[in-house]
Amino acid sequence: MSLTRDDVVLVTGGAGFIGSALSRAAIGSASRWIAFDSLHEQIHDRRERPQDLADDAELVIGDVASAADWDRVLSDATPTVIIHLAAETGTSQSLQHATRHATVNVLGTAMMMDALVRHDVHPRHILLASSRAVYGEGVWNGADGEFSPGPRSHAQLEAKQWDFGDAVPVPSHAARTPPRPVNVYGATKLAQENLLEAWCGSYGVPLTVLRFQNVYGPGQSLINSYTGIVSLFSQMAEEGRAIPLYEDGRIVRDFVFIDDVVAAIRAGIASGKSGLFDVGSGDPSTISQVAELIAKYHNAPPPRVTEQYRDGDVRYAACGIEATVAALGWRPQVALEEGIGHLQRWIAQQEQRITTAR
Ligand SMILES: NC(=O)c1ccc[n+]([C@@H]2O[C@H](COP(=O)([O-])OP(=O)(O)OC[C@H]3O[C@@H](n4cnc5c(N)ncnc54)[C@H](O)[C@@H]3O)[C@@H](O)[C@H]2O)c1
Repeated sequence: MSLTRDDVVLVTGGAGFIGSALSRAAIGSASRWIAFDSLHEQIHDRRERPQDLADDAELVIGDVASAADWDRVLSDATPTVIIHLAAETGTSQSLQHATRHATVNVLGTAMMMDALVRHDVHPRHILLASSRAVYGEGVWNGADGEFSPGPRSHAQLEAKQWDFGDAVPVPSHAARTPPRPVNVYGATKLAQENLLEAWCGSYGVPLTVLRFQNVYGPGQSLINSYTGIVSLFSQMAEEGRAIPLYEDGRIVRDFVFIDDVVAAIRAGIASGKSGLFDVGSGDPSTISQVAELIAKYHNAPPPRVTEQYRDGDVRYAACGIEATVAALGWRPQVALEEGIGHLQRWIAQQEQRITTAR
């Protein structure tokens, strides 16, 4: 069921990139819109209400991993729809800060479930923003058939063995690709899925899990150097720098534009369907292709391969979206070049940059 004027929508992490964009698109369909957000300083360095959050959204500053903060939120509101976006999102960072990632992502989800029970709240729908990170390296096809390679070791990366021999990667599909996270962030996103699936199944609450690929677009934090590679590349090219390409530049990602992700969340809520759904553009690119598009836009020097790498990064991340299109009646609309253009024009109007934030 689509949102109605009877709905009280609670969006954890609702002041972030995706949550703010969603608030602007969907707030008019609900009676109350509550963004419950800690204003994490890695994303919100001024710790102020973000301009991108819809004016009518109620912002409750609090931590999903705090029972007291949950009590504060649920004493004042009985949400009918919960969109769970709050998370620690640094993929490589998560290998050094496992406790922080597990506390917010895993414990924070459990805290939410316990708080709902404590306050006797039975939402009619919960939607979880999960991630392509649950697949890790996904499935590859080699001489002996398909296999799930697991993490690339530090020694492998140090030896510049970027791929898995001659094997070729297979796009992930929620229905058939086994999850096998290769970083702590991915493991915590899978734990969120499992926790909510168990809880919602028992309480009869429909749960829609959307596994997002790499989301980009206007509104993504320009000061968070740990996520948002398209924003990072854009700032470098805008400054006239050559974009450095990790590994051999042939890391593959599926970049999906923010408006398409907002549309997928709305379609997920409207469908009322429980299940796991991949959300991407369905049109993967190498990081080198993306960097070249951005460099061309700014007339910057050509990107250069540096052979640097990050532990915990996956080589290939892309998904098939046919099942999501069929189930949710949603389809991405914004092609990469168009989306990159929107992002460049938005960045040009912003004051903040990574270089000014540190
Ligand atoms: N952006 C992507 O490319 C992408 C890809 C896959 C999945 N996701 C998922 O989508 C969700 C939203 O991501 P985003 O891109 O909007 O990220 P974001 O960092 O812009 O927003 C996350 C928000 O959560 C808040 N937050 C962090 N810790 C919190 C805590 N302890 N309590 C309350 N709020 C807290 C932050 O302040 C921030 O406003 C996350 O769950 C993320 O894992 C995002």
